[in-house]
Amino acid sequence: MFSTIARRIRGESNALYRARDEVRASGRPVVDLVSGNLNDCGYVFPQNLLEEILVEASRRSAVYRPDSFGQATAREAVSEFYLKSGCTLAPDSILVTPGTSLAYWYCFKLLADEGDEILCPRPSYPLFDYIALMGGVNLVPYRMREEEGWGIDLEHLEASISTRTRAVVLISPHNPTGHVASAGEIEGLAEIARRHDLAIISDEVFSEALLPGKRTLRPEPLPRPASSGAPLVITLNGFSKMFALPGMKFGWMALSGDPEKVRRALGSLELISDTFLPVNETVQAAAPGIFQLGNAVRFEFGMRIRDCWRRTEALLATCSDRCSYVRPQGGFYVALSLGDQDEERTAERILRERSLLVHPGWFYDMDPHHLVFCFVQKPEVLEDCIPGLFEAARPSADGPERSEPEP
Ligand SMILES: Cc1ncc(COP(=O)(O)O)c(C=O)c1O
Repeated sequence: MFSTIARRIRGESNALYRARDEVRASGRPVVDLVSGNLNDCGYVFPQNLLEEILVEASRRSAVYRPDSFGQATAREAVSEFYLKSGCTLAPDSILVTPGTSLAYWYCFKLLADEGDEILCPRPSYPLFDYIALMGGVNLVPYRMREEEGWGIDLEHLEASISTRTRAVVLISPHNPTGHVASAGEIEGLAEIARRHDLAIISDEVFSEALLPGKRTLRPEPLPRPASSGAPLVITLNGFSKMFALPGMKFGWMALSGDPEKVRRALGSLELISDTFLPVNETVQAAAPGIFQLGNAVRFEFGMRIRDCWRRTEALLATCSDRCSYVRPQGGFYVALSLGDQDEERTAERILRERSLLVHPGWFYDMDPHHLVFCFVQKPEVLEDCIPGLFEAARPSADGPERSEPEP
């Protein structure tokens, strides 16, 4: 009765999540240190502002006049957001989408035929595997090198290009390594894209979660591929992380590059989007208000995220004998390197002994011996949980543990 894809994507179950369910069933609550849902971490867009914006938006969207690209006022607001950071992305090169995840699917359908290849960073958040599977495209990994601060291995990237490669995904800030692509890396990537006529899909969903360097107070502005001179750049972002509004399902694709390629891409995207129609009309009508009244909220969230990192870094300094890590430049996550300890068993021990859920690195296709956790937490959760996490991450007296990861 079911398709091959449906058979391949039956509900996930693995040893760690079964252990989590057992701990919960025994009556102990589990603290989830991986979810990245800002609302659960105490980041909530102010209710009074949201109400004000939505009441006005529902009035303005009372009569249904759909636009496949999204309402002009919503696209103008997105364009203005970029303009304020010195990046020109015109409203008529922007398409509104129901979140970034669906925008990926649109990109894959726009750029690749069945069996074509899209280059994707490794390690990576496991969202794209499923989108690619459903979209019928093959993801080909390019390496990020931990020994170089999780920098992009451009040589490996270029060597991974085949006649079927259609696009490269760049995630910056990157989930879960925290790497932010430098201007030099983006230039290198754009050069490769030009040489091989590839599109760049630039996922910037963590753009507001930039962290300062060790000796600086403010983070550097985010280098963006939008005006890098690559043949076609599709910049993705949305409200879920930017304003802690994942339930709004408001995202966008902003196109730039060779004008003829942009024009042709927009022509096809119009039909792709028209097939489903973009985003709830009231949410679209609310977008300009959210950008405008939410500006201070966005800055405040950014400051709180930086404060979470400062606290986490101070706590990490007390356990440098147990694990090392690459200092994240952005995003919500940090990957601890456990030396030769088994990551799967360590994650399970942390869960059973401390009721804390963290992920082993293989969830993200990392080399073995890593633990990944989200440092964007309520301050009390960081203070209460992180020392226990490090304590439980200590190698057992019997020496390193080993086990094979279960797929
Ligand atoms: C790197 C990355 N891109 C995209 C998404 C999905 O974003 P959205 O909530 O806008 O669909 C996530 C979700 O966590 C993510 O980590």
